[in-house]
Amino acid sequence: MASALLIRNGQVITATDRYVADVLCEDQLITRIGKGLDAPPNATVINATGKYVFPGFIDPHVHIYLPFMGTYAKDTYESASRAALVGGTTTVIEMICPGRHDQPLAAFELWRSKAEGRSACDFTFHMGVTRYDEQAEAQLRQIVKSGIASFKVFLAYKGAFGIDDTELYHTLRLAKELGVIVTAHCENETLVFQRQRELLAAGRTGPEYHEPSRPTSVEAEGVHHLMTFAELTGADVYVVHTSCREAVCNARAAMDRGVRAWIETVIPYLVLDSSYAEKPDFEGAKYVMSPPIREKRHQEYLWNAVRTRLISTVATDHAPFDFRGQKEMGRGDFTKIPNGIPSIENRVTLLYTHGVMTGRIDLNTFVDCASTQAARIFGLFPRKGSVQVGSDADLVVWDPQYRGTISASTHLMNTDYSAFEGWPIMGRAEVVCVRGYIQVRDGKFVGEPARGVMLKREPTHF
Ligand code: URP
Ligand code: ZN
Ligand code: ZN
Repeated sequence: MASALLIRNGQVITATDRYVADVLCEDQLITRIGKGLDAPPNATVINATGKYVFPGFIDPHVHIYLPFMGTYAKDTYESASRAALVGGTTTVIEMICPGRHDQPLAAFELWRSKAEGRSACDFTFHMGVTRYDEQAEAQLRQIVKSGIASFKVFLAYKGAFGIDDTELYHTLRLAKELGVIVTAHCENETLVFQRQRELLAAGRTGPEYHEPSRPTSVEAEGVHHLMTFAELTGADVYVVHTSCREAVCNARAAMDRGVRAWIETVIPYLVLDSSYAEKPDFEGAKYVMSPPIREKRHQEYLWNAVRTRLISTVATDHAPFDFRGQKEMGRGDFTKIPNGIPSIENRVTLLYTHGVMTGRIDLNTFVDCASTQAARIFGLFPRKGSVQVGSDADLVVWDPQYRGTISASTHLMNTDYSAFEGWPIMGRAEVVCVRGYIQVRDGKFVGEPARGVMLKREPTHF
């Protein structure tokens, strides 16, 4: 059992409030919040004077075990969960991505086995629907009963995870019936495929052609497509990793006409731009993900949409591949570069440095988009996503004075490069606890490697 923990005199920041208080944690929960609280015998006391106390951050879109594009993502739960924690993230939601011919239940058990007993932070999953037939449907119903309250569909990745329109329709119908939200990767896969063939035929083979192969209109079409299906089925949908104004505008237009939709962006889109994919010596491959990193002008649009809360969440889409041996598989053919950027460790500090410290978003918005909204949308609130009595004692004591530099030589993610190498950061998660257990101190992982548990979620989207 966790001994009591008293975090004294920090500035507690939630999605709505800001005040100085002590926070007492007992038996994994927050039990009291107030001024001048007495420490119970044997309590661990942390002085948070001059520090912020945030709810544990939640990353609602990560890939850790991922067989993809002829290889496997590099992280394990051992590496990714520690990286998440030192970055301030206490809960991750991973995408289960079965192959089209895999059985959903077997995939669920496989992904779960990769996490259980290995994760230092709490975790749950979005169940990928990569085929829809009677057998899959029966298994999906069972998986929802086991505590998974969200699906994931891909409108992209022809021949891999992508489903067709009939399957999309039935997935949304089932989700509506079960009260499950459907997260979706929105790009028109036919357009992507045709453009890839044309670019390669014209000798345009480098990583800088990844973006032109899937321009903003391809993503916007995918979003519009999903919204039409959501409108006709009444299902709740969540658009993952929106990268550009056009995609967000199509989601907003649907929301305006009553479609129940939520929008996610991911940290790479907020801080990187398409010029990174033009780096010489194939280094641009480090910045290949889908949808692609866009022209710089999209960044301010996305930041503004986060500020106005049109975009609900900022996730990572952490998908870690090495540069050597993995990204290099696409030398001479950009369509073979494994898609993804490692960032589970960097999301919160980059959001703080480039969002809060620049004045683009305030502290409450920071907490809302990086923690509270994910908890609300995915059935974890108020257990997660808030600092309140009765919530899990997932807390981050944040040092706003800290100054540091991101580097692959010091990060805990299991990749040989960082997309943010040498970037300065302001602030860091100094102490991080998961259900009252201290997992990070002085910014270092000091905790129990298998502390994390799978979070069971009830459907809430009726
Ligand atoms: O490039 C990306 N996004 N890789 C991970 C798979 C996905 O589409 O989310
Ligand atoms: Zn995706
Ligand atoms: Zn993803």
